[in-house]
Amino acid sequence: MSKHPPFQRIGVVGAGAMGRGIAQLFAQCGCDIRLHDTQPDASANALRELGATFERLTQKGKMSAEEAQGARGRIAVADQLEGLAGCELVIEAIVERLDAKRALFARLEAIVGSDAVLATNTSSLSVTAIAAACTHPGRVAGIHFFNPVPLMKVVEVIPGVRTDAAVLERLSALVRSSGHRAVVAADTPGFLVNHAGRGYGTEALKALSEGVADAPTIDRILREQVRFGGNGFRLGPFELLDLTALDVSHPVMESIYRQFYDEPRFRPSVLTAQRLAGGLLGRKSGEGFYRYDENQPILIDEPVAPVTGALPPVWVPDGERAAALGATASALGATLEGGSQPSEQALILLAPLGLDATAAAAGLDATRAVALDTLFEHAPGNCRRRVLMPTPATRPAFLEAARALFGSDGAAVSVLRDSPGFIAQRVIAMIVSIGCEIAQQRIAAPEDIDAAVRAGLGYPAGPLEMGDTLGAATIAAILEGMHAVTGDPRYRPSQWLRRRALLGLSLHHAD
Ligand SMILES: NC(=O)c1ccc[n+]([C@@H]2O[C@H](COP(=O)([O-])OP(=O)(O)OC[C@H]3O[C@@H](n4cnc5c(N)ncnc54)[C@H](O)[C@@H]3O)[C@@H](O)[C@H]2O)c1
Repeated sequence: MSKHPPFQRIGVVGAGAMGRGIAQLFAQCGCDIRLHDTQPDASANALRELGATFERLTQKGKMSAEEAQGARGRIAVADQLEGLAGCELVIEAIVERLDAKRALFARLEAIVGSDAVLATNTSSLSVTAIAAACTHPGRVAGIHFFNPVPLMKVVEVIPGVRTDAAVLERLSALVRSSGHRAVVAADTPGFLVNHAGRGYGTEALKALSEGVADAPTIDRILREQVRFGGNGFRLGPFELLDLTALDVSHPVMESIYRQFYDEPRFRPSVLTAQRLAGGLLGRKSGEGFYRYDENQPILIDEPVAPVTGALPPVWVPDGERAAALGATASALGATLEGGSQPSEQALILLAPLGLDATAAAAGLDATRAVALDTLFEHAPGNCRRRVLMPTPATRPAFLEAARALFGSDGAAVSVLRDSPGFIAQRVIAMIVSIGCEIAQQRIAAPEDIDAAVRAGLGYPAGPLEMGDTLGAATIAAILEGMHAVTGDPRYRPSQWLRRRALLGLSLHHAD
């Protein structure tokens, strides 16, 4: 942590969840904080809570008693906005309304010195539109923290179209002085992190709305099948939606979609619109995608893979992925058939990318076809969950044989209804595609995209890192397959991805 933050006296307007966190962070860095809120008790409450926080941190050994006392002593309440007159920087964290923020910035400009910087913590409004209320928009920028501010180690610094470069640099230096990572993101809807986070929930909702699987199955797959460096997603998309609550997340999904002029990649789902209307908000209303008993989800056990005696012989088509699938089947005890065509008894195993089982079974007997998702580890040993997908024509006996085979080493088995790209393929490919678009549109630098998504969203890897790990060509093939099967433009690959896949370049490769 640098000892010299580039601003000494910082005003914070809005003493809610974010304002408190911002005040705490910079008071701990040695800055003097003036906290102002229009609600008479809000600042006093914030001060009391911050005192308790510093005490807790001292008890936990995170700071010394002197440091706590110093930090607490550096935060003062300004009853009137005019009390921020001597501040070199004012950070606004008030209600998320453009008119309120514009009015505040216009007033602030008349109060602070001519070289003071004004910054907004808005999550969803245009920094440029807020700055336009000022006579000197060059001094205005976005500084977007995540909740809880002291623990979320990434901050987006956002220039409006008229922000001075020096203002951006000073704000970035301030963020770095607190030990957080500053990432510069263009003033576009959702900036970097909330833009990059569109793929996960939206694609899971799309799969749910198609009846591919139920919410708990989709959650289990994303927590247990997906693996990057040994880690999966900590929460499934529906667990996350229940935690955030639909009255918060559905309007964000709609707003980002509309602000990008109905970009199909962000198209929200009627499922969340209906659930929101019906009050199924999530954890806080006692029911969302899960039902809750004393704040704990009521979970229903998934069916256990059957054990069958004699398994049919297994046949796989040509190709690298199918060969790997054949090797897994064989390691699990299946008898692998050779030959260019399956025998009359064979279970036909397929390893499609981006296609549904029906399309993958073209020219074969679809009544004996079952597809396995081979995007992540499926060999026995390190595989926790395998995901199967029959065609609508697959006979139950063949699906049961596949379930028994792929669960025979104790791995869990999920069975989907036919879908282009299983669950993991479609969700991961969309995360990568959207991450690539962020790079393509120069919203943020490739290395910042990954770092901000890991820190801000807690994903096991950044979107470009995910793409590089699995192969840009693999992700492009998934999206092209999904695009071909569905005709839906949401699946058209980002040009950033397509070019790097064709050229064999890393997704971090800038041009
Ligand atoms: N909560 C989050 O997770 C989060 C994350 C990032 C950014 N943000 C953004 O930060 C801002 C604040 O969010 P929050 O969650 O802290 O809200 P909050 O409701 O907890 O606090 C807002 C505070 O601002 C005060 N306020 C409202 N209008 C004011 C005005 N004109 N002047 C002074 N004070 C005023 C309110 O009295 C309240 O105490 C919003 O713009 C929000 O979009 C929130």
